[in-house]
Amino acid sequence: MTKGWTKSDWRVKPRVQMPDYKDAAALQAVEAQLSKYPPLVFAGEARRLKRELAEVSEGRAFLLQGGDCAESFGEFSADLIRDTFKVMLQMAVVLTYGAKVPVVKVGRMAGQFAKPRSAPTETQGGAELPSYRGDIINGFDFTPEARIPDPARMLQAYTQAAASLNLLRAFSSGGFADIHRVHSWTLGFAEGDKAERYREMSNRISDALDFMNAAGVNSENNDDLAKVDFYTSHEALLLEYEEALARMDSTTGLPIAGSGHMIWIGDRTRQPDGAHVEFARGVQNPIGLKCGPSLEVDDLKVLMSKLNPGNEAGRLTLIARFGAGKVGDHLPKLIKAVKDEGAKVVWCCDPMHGNTIKSATGYKTRPFESVLAEVREFFDVHNAEGTVPGGVHFEMTGKDVTECTGGVRAVTDEDLSDRYHTACDPRLNASQSLELAFLIAEEISERRAIAQAAAAEG
Ligand code: PEP
Ligand code: CO
Repeated sequence: MTKGWTKSDWRVKPRVQMPDYKDAAALQAVEAQLSKYPPLVFAGEARRLKRELAEVSEGRAFLLQGGDCAESFGEFSADLIRDTFKVMLQMAVVLTYGAKVPVVKVGRMAGQFAKPRSAPTETQGGAELPSYRGDIINGFDFTPEARIPDPARMLQAYTQAAASLNLLRAFSSGGFADIHRVHSWTLGFAEGDKAERYREMSNRISDALDFMNAAGVNSENNDDLAKVDFYTSHEALLLEYEEALARMDSTTGLPIAGSGHMIWIGDRTRQPDGAHVEFARGVQNPIGLKCGPSLEVDDLKVLMSKLNPGNEAGRLTLIARFGAGKVGDHLPKLIKAVKDEGAKVVWCCDPMHGNTIKSATGYKTRPFESVLAEVREFFDVHNAEGTVPGGVHFEMTGKDVTECTGGVRAVTDEDLSDRYHTACDPRLNASQSLELAFLIAEEISERRAIAQAAAAEG
């Protein structure tokens, strides 16, 4: 399938959004070191995720992909990882219980460090400097020194990703994610209507668990109740890092990206003949492809044949990010292209990146109503086309930030300055994330009711 491909082939292709490292010797030393380190994930895990995504593509499971816009070195802490993980578990509970659908949980975590930028430079107070490109590349501080790309940052990113994954694995299987703890996942600050709905749902789940326990099924004798599968993902933007962590899977003899379970190609780096597509096409991991308003049908067809020539279910996830009010203009023609090609894909909705605006108070924000509206439009289009709305991809944090306006706790333009902590894009806070999960659960349930009514009519 990727015969003749090697992990360094991307180097001869046109590249965008990547840094020019000035010190070639320092870069090579880092690459040599990284290529000797153990991979962060194992091929068998990536293959299992691919099988689960194949279920998503058929509508038998739902993909929940979320986490930080950009992980940072300065904000690295166990609490931050725990709170993000906790929100993902809460959202999964709402979907599993509310919509009766298994949830594939994929974090934008343990490797989400490199950022594409809309402008190569940034101006502040009359001074112009290269843009910040994520902690794996340069520093956030607005100084000439901080903005110089430093290859040694890749080693720190690797270390942080390894430590994050270690904690995530412990949370997933060490008791924290046991469904019997569903009440304790209620975050202290999650008050109000949605938190109440979550608590009611937890009570009903506890009742069901008591019943199952009486019938002899509990966490001691059933791993499915005690553990969860949690996967990692990030944008494969910094190809020197990706290449250095690529490995041969000893089971299949095929190359695999060792930097995370799933990698995706961003909306700005999906040129069919570019470096990023060249790298991704050769590794066996599940691949995501961001699909923004500028994606042409012909390009999508080429990209599908390059990225998934064997038409393997679960291999390719198309992540649509058009913006509220625009889904109907773009998604139907892409769905038609997928149908024309007979391609097997997961359709996923990113309601964040097409909805970024500048608030009246000057902050980059995303109105929560637009986020919800885009998700609704995504479901509506799939319902009309008879295709499967397979998942959502979103930026959030478990912390009580005020970065996106709206939500039941009504963050206003004026509130944005209170707890605006992101180094990059505005993220949903825990309560907005939970609200999003309830909306998705309703959309899925509604969709099922329509399908059942249609089946009953014969
Ligand atoms: C992102 O997911 O952080 C991102 C930059 O998205 P996109 O490539 O869709 O703009
Ligand atoms: Co972002």
